[in-house]
Amino acid sequence: MALPDYFLQELKMRSDLPDIASSYVNLKRKGKNMVGLCPFHNEKTPSFNIYTDNGSFYCFGCQAGGDVITFVMKIENLDYMEAVRFLAQRAGLNLPEDGIDDGLSKLRTRILEINRATARFFHETLLSTDGKPGLDYLKNRGMDSKTIRRFGIGYAPEGGFALVNHLKNLGYTKDEMTQANVSGISRNGNSYDRFRGRVMFPIIDLRGNVIAFGGRILTDEKPKYINTSDTPVYHKSSGLFAMNIAKNANKRQIILAEGYMDVIALHRAGFTNAVASLGTSFTGEQARVIAKYADEAVICYDSDEAGQRAAMRAIPILKATGLKIRVLAVPGNKDPDEFMKSYPNDGMLRFQKLLDTAPNDIEYKLTKIRIKYDTETVEGKSGFIEEAIDMLGKSGDIMKAEIYAKQIAQTMEVSFESVKQLMEQTEKKEENSKRREERKKLNQMSANTSIVNTEKRQNYKIANAEEGILAYLFKNPDEIQYVAAKIPSEKFVTAYNRRVYKLLLGKTIQNEISLMDFSQDLTTNEMAELSRIVNSRSEVPSTREDVQTMIEMLQNAKLHVNPQQAKDMSKEELAEMMKRLKKEKLGE
Ligand code: UTP
Ligand code: MN
Repeated sequence: MALPDYFLQELKMRSDLPDIASSYVNLKRKGKNMVGLCPFHNEKTPSFNIYTDNGSFYCFGCQAGGDVITFVMKIENLDYMEAVRFLAQRAGLNLPEDGIDDGLSKLRTRILEINRATARFFHETLLSTDGKPGLDYLKNRGMDSKTIRRFGIGYAPEGGFALVNHLKNLGYTKDEMTQANVSGISRNGNSYDRFRGRVMFPIIDLRGNVIAFGGRILTDEKPKYINTSDTPVYHKSSGLFAMNIAKNANKRQIILAEGYMDVIALHRAGFTNAVASLGTSFTGEQARVIAKYADEAVICYDSDEAGQRAAMRAIPILKATGLKIRVLAVPGNKDPDEFMKSYPNDGMLRFQKLLDTAPNDIEYKLTKIRIKYDTETVEGKSGFIEEAIDMLGKSGDIMKAEIYAKQIAQTMEVSFESVKQLMEQTEKKEENSKRREERKKLNQMSANTSIVNTEKRQNYKIANAEEGILAYLFKNPDEIQYVAAKIPSEKFVTAYNRRVYKLLLGKTIQNEISLMDFSQDLTTNEMAELSRIVNSRSEVPSTREDVQTMIEMLQNAKLHVNPQQAKDMSKEELAEMMKRLKKEKLGE
């Protein structure tokens, strides 16, 4: 699969990385470049950089890097072709016919078709005589037909083969059904339905594709729900139930609930901005999806202990995306579904009130700490103050921390000075641990390099010179002819750098080189390494004299042969190395 050059050039022109990245990352201008908090790892100080010169990004914290395609692949969880398609669609470009036949892409398309056919089958079954048990169950739980239609709810019949037979008739293979995770394969090699005798909830992505299912059993048997496992079109860790509807609520607020039934109950009551995280523990990927459509997240988990623990875990994950957070605890140990049911007439108003008065994350944590202590006793009082102040000191919000600390000092009848002193100690500790964390990251910085360029460790100085030359040529493409004449690619010692150099010499460059010119030749890790090579030198670019020195280093390089490496070399590489060794021996 190769995309034609004219197409990629056009796509490059129309896909501005700062523009695209800024819908995911809060970017600040820094000279002609931009910086922000990295969307690919949690951090408190910005180390995510965008380089406008060459259309690339690099994070000095987690070594994520690459071009605009790499960025979209990583942040939208897409493969190469899907990211290209995503960008093309955005830019209003048609994909060339000859560039789209790669296997994985095809399989994904087939799986999405299977999912759609399956959703339709389940839904139609629910409304047929076979679906009576499911429909009775739903009606029993107060579900109306409008809701059933809206969420595309269905029923998977008991028998065990209805769906696979249906899909077989539509022309899908056993393997495709298995890959879609709608069927299993029995010991005698036959496909059988994975979901049987369950009410089915389709999970739909932001583009309207059915990507997975959750199926609830009609009785108290276990497991209560069976869900689609990860497939080529579905990653549990980024899926959110009803996000396809919630994004259109346009409220800049998302209510995060625990279960399918909760979300459905909330939507029925008019809170169409509710989503659920699908039984897995809440992830950063899910948080980033939410942050795209909201400024505030209201966590509304079950008020039992498990639900409250899950809420505590979700807070820092949501906070890392910059969302404001509030935590709504439904009174009376109920989940939102039960709550709505117990107030058939005014559930909506009551819930709206809870929503309006829900405490923010700090207030919520303070209440949780407060109930652990008996503040009538000296022990309890000091215990509460210490834990509360420790939490405030770690909150990272100095202003709010100070306000709450003052309140605590007042109600606990201690001086604000002593409380403040305590808090500053924690803040200092927090600051130090942050610094340690940053330092550790810097040390890990060479991790990706050592994966991509395995020979760098043995040839450190030379590899650095090679990188210097590559970075120089990226900055000064009009020097390519000059450098190429002085140093043939065989003189590059490390294979990765040699390959990039060869690619660079082979490109027809118009004015500027961008990282995207390499996106079809390099893997994601290799793109990140190229981004590092080019951008880590951008603050102090090399001069022609510097490069002259680097070229001489390469010209005079002695080969270090590592037997382990030699073992891994291809025949051609071995031959090339032998030739070089011979030359060196002859003093050429
Ligand atoms: P709950 O047990 O709270 O389910 O689990 P619920 O949505 O309230 O369902 P009802 O009201 O009892 O019918 C919350 C979520 O956790 C996931 C599902 O996504 C569920 O909606 N879960 C739960 C599973 O994936 N598997 C299970 O066995 C249980
Ligand atoms: Mn429930």
